[in-house]
Amino acid sequence: MQETRYIYAIVNIGNEAWFKKEVQFKKWPWKFSFSTSGYLTFKYEGNLSEKELLLELQNMDPSFARAIGVFQNKASAPHEQNIDEAVGMIFESFEVKPGEFWIGKRLPRPGVIDRNQVFAIAGDKGDGPSRTFHKAREAVELLGLPLKSFPTILELGSAPGGTSLYFLESGTEVIGVDAAEMDQQCLKHPKFRHIKKPIQSVTREDLGQALKRIEFVSVDMNLMPSRSLKESLRLVPWLPSLKHFMITLKTSRVEDIEYLQRYRTTLKKQGFLKTRYFQLPSHRHETLLYATDFKRDRA
Ligand SMILES: C[S@@+](CC[C@H](N)C(=O)[O-])C[C@H]1O[C@@H](n2cnc3c(N)ncnc32)[C@H](O)[C@@H]1O
Repeated sequence: MQETRYIYAIVNIGNEAWFKKEVQFKKWPWKFSFSTSGYLTFKYEGNLSEKELLLELQNMDPSFARAIGVFQNKASAPHEQNIDEAVGMIFESFEVKPGEFWIGKRLPRPGVIDRNQVFAIAGDKGDGPSRTFHKAREAVELLGLPLKSFPTILELGSAPGGTSLYFLESGTEVIGVDAAEMDQQCLKHPKFRHIKKPIQSVTREDLGQALKRIEFVSVDMNLMPSRSLKESLRLVPWLPSLKHFMITLKTSRVEDIEYLQRYRTTLKKQGFLKTRYFQLPSHRHETLLYATDFKRDRA
């Protein structure tokens, strides 16, 4: 008989119920076992060997966990997050109660550098005018997006301007769409242009010649996710150079998790061959859907 194995998940504080619901909804063979602020464990009830389980976890795409792995043992001292270069395994620990550390291991998620973000503190503090400055930084760093190489970034839902400001700092031109007021720091920036309209009213003419230069679209509108996606994708056929698309999806209720797969399918149908979900340290009840490898002829 196989020994009992446990899976751990590192989640944003306040989003524990969202991840539990995700596990339940996706019918992963995990039985909830333990939870403390920012950390959950589940008893694994499937048939995979430990090696197979680690590989499966590596390729799962959780919307509400920053890291998932296999619990190893309890210890009285922390295990600094480190990587065994020979096998590519990451070891990390979480202080479950004072002086008690639960150590786990996992394989790194392919194509992203998440190690700095697993235990990062949400970016509410800092230089930017809002939390969104940090949210944008976290997304760009995790995905390794080459901001400097993008001639123009289109930001939908740009007010008050933390995200635009972060993009502008890379030296790139930013077009922000939002009917609300933008921060003066953005408005005064020579590389910023504000289209002060709701997305539904934006026309090709509003974007002008810039539409040919837009390689990256970033969306964060406080609309229902289905609406936000639909309105943003209306602009996609106008953008001949589009390569990357990312959208923050608001999931105010845990039940909203049920629709996440549908949004991914919508992006795939639009022509994005790769789509992935990410939970960023600064996320509240929301998640990031990132899409790339855009093939126009599939649209
Ligand atoms: C979370 S805030 C965006 C934060 C912004 N990205 C930043 O970095 O400061 C959501 C924004 O969505 C905008 N919004 C809501 N509905 C919109 C619509 N139909 N068209 C454009 N923007 C919209 C709101 O005005 C609000 O400024």
